[in-house]
Amino acid sequence: MYEGSVTVLENRPIAEGIFSLTFATEGEVKVRCGQFCMVGIAGFPLRRPIAVCKAEGERITVCYQVKGEGTAALSRKQQGDKLSVLLPLGNGFFVEEGEKKVALVGGGVGIFPLISVLREYAGSKEIFSYMGFRTKAAVCMRYELQRGEHLVLATDDGSEGYHGTAVQALMEDIDRVRPDVILSCGPTPMLHALKSAVAGRDIPVYVSLEERMGCGIGACLVCICNRTDGSHARVCKDGPVFGIGEVEI
Ligand SMILES: Cc1cc2nc3c(=O)[nH]c(=O)nc-3n(C[C@H](O)[C@H](O)[C@H](O)COP(=O)(O)OP(=O)(O)OC[C@H]3O[C@@H](n4cnc5c(N)ncnc54)[C@H](O)[C@@H]3O)c2cc1C
Ligand code: FES
Repeated sequence: MYEGSVTVLENRPIAEGIFSLTFATEGEVKVRCGQFCMVGIAGFPLRRPIAVCKAEGERITVCYQVKGEGTAALSRKQQGDKLSVLLPLGNGFFVEEGEKKVALVGGGVGIFPLISVLREYAGSKEIFSYMGFRTKAAVCMRYELQRGEHLVLATDDGSEGYHGTAVQALMEDIDRVRPDVILSCGPTPMLHALKSAVAGRDIPVYVSLEERMGCGIGACLVCICNRTDGSHARVCKDGPVFGIGEVEI
């Protein structure tokens, strides 16, 4: 686990209200797809959880939407500035040996952890991506999204690509593609829609959950979610990736 200071290499807007931040750690950090980091910003007592998009040795890239004060302050960081970061955190996504065809379903900022899946598995798996955005101006990371066999960009308003949601786009293709596994990340209504859409189909589905977090390492219990068996799970430590039937969404 890396806990310490990092240096901002680049922090630039890539779409309306979305920034790509690359920072350098002191020494190489191994990160698997779907893991996240906690980014500390001076003046904010709690670090912010952000998925790792790319990890290349000492260079780590995350993409974030400016949402509240913390991410607004982060967007003002410039090359050479220091941040305190904790990573890699969480379990991440795993694709089993026998799972050859993988469908990715992402919505909004949920596309970012799925980019790390594309980077890890494109070439060894057949990947079919269904990525949903509000509108054309929000579409970003096109080059990264094109890794894999097939990409459908969907927009809610039809301003680019498929007119509808990523889940609707997946369901139009699902009988042709017949994925062995579905990996997803996005807003809760999208995960609900995915759960209902694939109910009754014998396809494993894994989702990455977003919860408010305090520590990011399993100690504070801020991020507790309910498992369907009545027990609880810490999203930061036991997740953020869970089987879709394993947790209450
Ligand atoms: C595992 C994980 C991965 C994430 N990956 C990304 C990503 O790749 N890109 C991205 O844009 N966003 C991501 N998020 C959401 C991101 O953490 C929040 O948007 C961010 O913390 C908001 O901080 P703020 O200070 O701007 O907002 P404020 O609303 O001012 O934050 C106040 C507090 O609430 C927390 N909070 C607010 N919204 C969320 C949220 N949706 N999820 C978790 N905590 C929240 C903040 O961390 C902070 O502690 C991820 C969240 C989790 C849990
Ligand atoms: S954020 Fe502290 S236990 Fe998960």
